Amino acid sequence: MGTPPRTALVTGANRGIGLAVATLLHAHGHRVVLAARDEDGAHKAAAALGEDAVGVALDVADPDSVERGLREAGEVDVLVNNAGVQLDWGASPTGVDLELVRRTLEVNLLGSWRVSQAVVPAMVRRGWGRVVNVSSGTGSFAFGIAEMCPAYSVSKVSLNALTVMLAKETAGTGVLVNAINPGMVRTRMRPDAEQSAESAAEHIVRAATLPDDGPSGVFLRRDAVVDW
Ligand SMILES: NC(=O)c1ccc[n+]([C@@H]2O[C@H](COP(=O)([O-])OP(=O)(O)OC[C@H]3O[C@@H](n4cnc5c(N)ncnc54)[C@H](OP(=O)(O)O)[C@@H]3O)[C@@H](O)[C@H]2O)c1
Repeated sequence: MGTPPRTALVTGANRGIGLAVATLLHAHGHRVVLAARDEDGAHKAAAALGEDAVGVALDVADPDSVERGLREAGEVDVLVNNAGVQLDWGASPTGVDLELVRRTLEVNLLGSWRVSQAVVPAMVRRGWGRVVNVSSGTGSFAFGIAEMCPAYSVSKVSLNALTVMLAKETAGTGVLVNAINPGMVRTRMRPDAEQSAESAAEHIVRAATLPDDGPSGVFLRRDAVVDW
């Protein structure tokens, strides 16, 4: 761990990668806010972790819900923008329903953007913060844009661009903003993948707890900086 324990908020923390990240941050001594659009799911996940874990209802696609959830969460030092949907696997760029594209961007891009807008300015004022955007190889020009899930792919390309812009805006403030490609991870989204959520979480948590001289505005894969 590169930093002392602080308050970390993970979106989509009721299952999959988000739950594994929240669990690991908690095990490392952080106060963890498990944010999930399903309030019961958030509370149950937090209760399973015990002390210093709270569950809040937070739908990243709903501005009112984000405002309420963050008010309940209090000060956030570490933000993991993990909530995501993949609605168009097997589609094509010419055939995909643009309503699916809109819904995907609403969560994967605007959701992360919305929560970042609400949290990052206070991190800058306090002079310390870590933001990790859970991206994907499908959002990487270097790794291979994925035309078989065009909405998802474009949403992650955009999330990567947002990462670079937030990092530029916060440069020198003590806030580090990075994106991570966790690889294929066995969750509801990818039930056939080999890598466990716990294994992916180790890399995400390292990115979320970078030391003060750690990188900002980079794309990480297995702890290494890779091309966008
Ligand atoms: N699995 C992979 O191979 C893989 C690879 C690369 C990147 N990723 C990324 O990793 C992240 C986590 O995915 P996962 O694999 O753990 O998938 P998952 O098991 O399907 O979990 C997705 C999480 O996002 C939440 N979510 C969806 N829409 C939301 C919204 N509007 N507001 C708040 N939460 C919302 C879900 O909540 P509900 O339970 O209420 O639906 C769930 O908690 C995503 O950003 C995904 O794109 C996954």
